[in-house]
Amino acid sequence: MAASSRPILVAVAWPYANGLQHLGHIAGAYLPGDIFARYHRRRGNRVLMVSGSDAHGTPITVRADQEGVEPAAVVERFHPEFLRTWERLGISFDLFTTTMTENHHEVTRALFTRLRDRGFIELRASEQMYDPEAGRFLPDRYVEGTCPHCGYTEARGDQCENCGRTLDPVDLIGPRSRLTGAAPELRETDHFFLLLSRLEPELLEWLESRHGWRRHVLNWSLQFVKDGLHDRAITRDLTWGVRLPGDELGEGKRIYVWFDAVIGYLSASIEWAGRSGDPEAWRAWWEGRDAASYYFVGKDNIPFHTVIWPAILLGHGDLELPTHVPANQYVTFKGAKASKSAGVGRTVADYLDRMEPDALRYALACVLPEQNDTELTDDELVRRVNDELVAVWGNLVNRVVSMIGRSFAGTVPSAVGPVEDDRALVAAVDAAVTESGQLLEAVELRAGLRAGMGAAQAVNAYLNRHEPWKLARTDAERAGTVLHHALQAVAGINVVLSPYVPGASAAVAEALGQPVTDAVGTDGWARTPVPGGQRLGALPPLFAKLEGPLFP
Ligand code: MF3
Ligand code: ZN
Repeated sequence: MAASSRPILVAVAWPYANGLQHLGHIAGAYLPGDIFARYHRRRGNRVLMVSGSDAHGTPITVRADQEGVEPAAVVERFHPEFLRTWERLGISFDLFTTTMTENHHEVTRALFTRLRDRGFIELRASEQMYDPEAGRFLPDRYVEGTCPHCGYTEARGDQCENCGRTLDPVDLIGPRSRLTGAAPELRETDHFFLLLSRLEPELLEWLESRHGWRRHVLNWSLQFVKDGLHDRAITRDLTWGVRLPGDELGEGKRIYVWFDAVIGYLSASIEWAGRSGDPEAWRAWWEGRDAASYYFVGKDNIPFHTVIWPAILLGHGDLELPTHVPANQYVTFKGAKASKSAGVGRTVADYLDRMEPDALRYALACVLPEQNDTELTDDELVRRVNDELVAVWGNLVNRVVSMIGRSFAGTVPSAVGPVEDDRALVAAVDAAVTESGQLLEAVELRAGLRAGMGAAQAVNAYLNRHEPWKLARTDAERAGTVLHHALQAVAGINVVLSPYVPGASAAVAEALGQPVTDAVGTDGWARTPVPGGQRLGALPPLFAKLEGPLFP
C-alpha cells in the first residue's frame, strides 16, 4: 500500500550511566519508545530513534568519588552494559551514544552561543551554595533541605522528588550540605542564566496549544509555568561537564548537566546523520514542518521536556518543539519505586536470564504506567506470560498452523462458501488492526496491545464454536474454510502484535510467507491475505511457558 512517509523522531530519556537498568526504567521509557518506533517503521514512516548515556551530573561524580575513579571510567563501564541490554531486549535505537562525544560538546556550545546571541542567556553575578567546611561550591544534588512548594523535608537542590518541581539549591528551606552536614553559605560567583522569564509567555501559549497530551503531563506542565518561571543558572562550579565557549569565567566552570543532556536529542541526531553518510539528514526531523517528535520519559523528567527543552528550542528559533511528551508514571515493584536511586528491584539482565525478551516485553507492555502508577510482581509477570501470551496467542497460532499441517499437509486450504461468522471474524480482526493503529498514533500503547489480544481471544472462541478438528473427519471442505479464515485472522493480529513482540511476530510472518521489510513509504499496518494453496513454512516454538517462580 503506498503511503506518504513522515519523519518521526523517537527521543528516549538519556539514562545516567551510573548503574544498571531496572524493569521500571524499561517500562517507563525504553520499551514504550521502542514499541512506538517499530509501529511507525512498519507504517512506512522515517523513524529516527535516539538516546544515549547521560555522562554528566552528580549521579556520575558521586559514584566516581565513592570508587575513587574518574567520572569517565564510570560511564565507560555502564555504557556498554546499556548497549547490551538494548540488544538483548530488542530496543531498536538508530543511535545510542553518550554525552561525552566531541560532537555533543560542540553542538551544546553552539546552541549556548546562539541563545546568548539572541538574548536568552545572560552572564550574571549570582550567589551559590558554598560548603565552608569542605571549602567548595556545592553541586545542586549535594544540597538538601525542605521543598518550598510542598514542604517535603528531603528535597534535593535540583528537584523535589515529592512534588516533581525543579528547584535551585537557594530555594530550599533549611539547606544542609550532603558532604559535611554543614549549613551552606551563599558566596558570590558569576554564572550564565537561561532567561526563562522572557520565554514564559511563548511557552504558555505553546503548551496551551497542545492537543492529545496525557492529562497528568499537560496539567502539571501548565501549572509549573503558571506558577512563574525563574531565570535559571545553566553553569556550575564544576570540572566535569561540557566546557563553555570562551573563557570569560575561567577554569572550574562547566555547563550544567540538565542544559546539555536535553541537547543530546539534537546532537545524537546530528551524529547519526554524520554516520549515515548524509551529514545534513538530521534536518528532516528538526526543521521539517511535517516532522513529528515524541519524547519518552519518566514523570520526574517532565519539566525538563515540557518546559526547559522547549525553552531552549524557542531560544534557538528554527528548531521544532516536541509534538508530544508521553511521559509515564512509575511502575512499582511490591510497593517500592523501581528507580536506581531507590536501589530496589532486580536488573533487566536478571530477568532476561530467566525469560525470553518477547515475554518480558509483553508482560511490561501490559502494565505500562501511562496514566497512573502501576504495580508489577513477579507472579503477575509469570501469569501474564503463561495465561495470556502462551495460552491465548501462542496457542492460537500453534493450533491453526498445526491443524493445517495435519489435515492439509501444510498447504493453506481455500475458502469455500464462507458463512457470515467466517467473514465477521476477519472483519473484526481488520477493525482491530485499524483501531490499534489509531491507539498507537495516540501513544496509547497498552490499549493497542489489548485490541490485539482481544482479537486473539475472539479467534480462539471462533475455533471453539466451529471445531475444525472435528470437522476435519466429517467435512474436510468446511474444516478448510474455517482454518482459512482463522489463518487470515492470525495474519492480521500478528501485525498488531509486531511492535510488542517483534521476535515472535517475525517468526509467524515468516511461516505465513509474509516477511516484513519496514520499507520507507510502504504502509505495512494492514493484514496481508494468505492465499489458499500457499505452503506454510515451519513455525518455531514461539513462547515457552514459565515454570515455577522466576527467582526461587
Ligand atoms: N539522566 C536523566 C535522568 O536519568 C534523564 C535525562 S533525559 C534528557 O533522570 F535527555 F533530557 F537528558
Ligand atoms: Zn516539593
